[in-house]
Amino acid sequence: MKFFATAASGTEGALKDELRALKVKVKADRGGVHFEGDLVDGFRVCLHARVAMRVLVEVVRGPAVGEKGLYDLMRSVDWREHLTARHTFAITATCKSSQMTHSQFIAQRAKDAIVDQLRDYTGQRPSVDTRDPDVDVVLRLVRDQATVYLDLAGEPLHRRGYRRSTVDAMMKETLAAAVLQIAGYTGEDDLLDPLCGAGTILLEGALMARNIAPGLGRRFNVERWPNLEADTVSAWAALREEAQAAVRPRALVRLRGVDVSEEALRATRANAEAAGVSADVSLERTDARHLRPDRDRGWVVTDPPYGDRLAAKPLQLAGFARQFGEALRGFRGHTVAILSGNPMVSRSLNLPFTFEHTLYNGDTECRLLRAQIA
Ligand SMILES: C[S@@+](CC[C@H](N)C(=O)[O-])C[C@H]1O[C@@H](n2cnc3c(N)ncnc32)[C@H](O)[C@@H]1O
Repeated sequence: MKFFATAASGTEGALKDELRALKVKVKADRGGVHFEGDLVDGFRVCLHARVAMRVLVEVVRGPAVGEKGLYDLMRSVDWREHLTARHTFAITATCKSSQMTHSQFIAQRAKDAIVDQLRDYTGQRPSVDTRDPDVDVVLRLVRDQATVYLDLAGEPLHRRGYRRSTVDAMMKETLAAAVLQIAGYTGEDDLLDPLCGAGTILLEGALMARNIAPGLGRRFNVERWPNLEADTVSAWAALREEAQAAVRPRALVRLRGVDVSEEALRATRANAEAAGVSADVSLERTDARHLRPDRDRGWVVTDPPYGDRLAAKPLQLAGFARQFGEALRGFRGHTVAILSGNPMVSRSLNLPFTFEHTLYNGDTECRLLRAQIA
């Protein structure tokens, strides 16, 4: 089977490394990583990849010129293998540089083809459920070439199942995991996020430190698919058990979250509880500009306010960054990694950055910067 695991722009390399570690043959591409294997490999990636957003398995690929071309391509698939009248499904379509230009219309025609075929074969039709379908069909049309996939996870993989509480300007769990991995954090060292917000970086670090597979707290749509072989289902159960058995009872490192906002700390606490790592994280309400290290090594990983959604004034932001940078320069022996969406903030921190990587937080182009504080 051919798979495509999607990842946010700039994190494809990190995903490729993860998939290699999971022993699947990979090829990185824009927006994700291709790999080959069977449904057990696909499930393993859903369970273990911290950076993947979706895991898609290819159903068909071919020319789909105009409405009829698309309809015919969709009907060339035997949908009885993937759907029954007892299962619900949904189609998401995207298109680029093609004769058909309306993604909703494309999805509608593709749906008609599936429903018509199943009705012809079985006399019954599956229902569409756009909210929580059993089978999620993903259709991409580029220059009149369509690729049709099924989405193994359903809900995107950044939804680990632990986010109970939110704050402004939170990052996705998959981005936080990518930031840690690209910076080089492995979960084997102390970690501090001095502007922790809802705790996303801290909690992704805690999952790494406890060796908790990111998908262990949730289910995947593939588990609801029809025609699953008993061997596949038992192999999945074995993968979950193996992942559960590999969880460390306690983190061997200190995970520390700091924020000035009591609301942010409450959110982190609730999320840590849901992730099962509350005993591993210590939280304190402090102004990050006044932080002092109490260890002689470790990691500081954080994303300072960028000034977009937080409506901070540029001068205030620069002033904050200067003072925050001064505090960070006191963290001798530490590695500091900053995700910044604002070059002025990066400059004002005035840290000896020696590593830079571009990635995107939603639409915002960001730099991941790393400095070793001597
Ligand atoms: C961009 S948000 C961090 C979001 C976080 N990474 C997440 O995913 O939830 C920045 C955080 O910095 C906190 N903050 C702003 N100024 C601060 C200061 N002087 N000291 C400590 N925290 C501060 C805010 O309360 C906010 O929670």
